Amino acid sequence: MNLLALACSPKKGRNTDILVDELLQGAKETLCDHSLHIKKIYINSLSFRPCQDCGYCRKNESCSLQDDMTLVYKDIEDADGMIVSAPTYYGGLNAQCKMLIDRCFRFNEMVSNKDESWTFQSRIKKRKKLIFVGANGSFGKECVARQKTIISHLCNDINAELYQMIFAHKTDYYPVIENGELRQKARLMGKGWVHAIALDLQKNMIVEENSNGKRT
Ligand SMILES: Cc1cc2nc3c(=O)[nH]c(=O)nc-3n(C[C@H](O)[C@H](O)[C@H](O)COP(=O)(O)O)c2cc1C
Repeated sequence: MNLLALACSPKKGRNTDILVDELLQGAKETLCDHSLHIKKIYINSLSFRPCQDCGYCRKNESCSLQDDMTLVYKDIEDADGMIVSAPTYYGGLNAQCKMLIDRCFRFNEMVSNKDESWTFQSRIKKRKKLIFVGANGSFGKECVARQKTIISHLCNDINAELYQMIFAHKTDYYPVIENGELRQKARLMGKGWVHAIALDLQKNMIVEENSNGKRT
């Protein structure tokens, strides 16, 4: 099982990052064997450019920009479970996260319908379960709704099911490090997440074996 965490805050060890670690810890406690591969990437440490809308990915199933995103693309394709974490900046996702999401447009396949509308599909075969981790310095009801819309679009393009979202609110007053209840919630979420992924993988294996005629 491949778990990929894309941490978009520039701050290591702070609010969103702590929640990511709790989720991953819950995952490790649930599936403590060699089949679990966890990769965490700090997006802020990468060198990559924002999407240029050059149109290359509409004709080719890849991106024209050759930068650090090339490696992340491979990890996204291989992931069974994915975490995206980002703090709220000016009411939306921070720039690092938005840049990452825009660069995932290369995974989107636009199919034209008879009525001149479009269906947006994913070019990725493997289905994954995604958790979004957010943090607001104050209270972010509107931010949650706004971010959920964008994350849902991302899920569509990378063939992910939005498994759960978890938010830290009022971090200016209650930093996550002091919020034991929220940390516990994240740890439990990580456990449930990995359990659900394991069940999916098991189901897929049975379907595959059936279609190969190995099992009835
Ligand atoms: C440039 C900037 C803009 C911010 N804008 C908002 C905002 O609009 N709403 C909010 O609730 N918090 C805002 N914050 C606060 C962060 O969302 C908050 O500190 C968050 O917990 C940071 O998460 P992190 O520690 O994981 O990086 C902003 C912080 C920065 C640096």
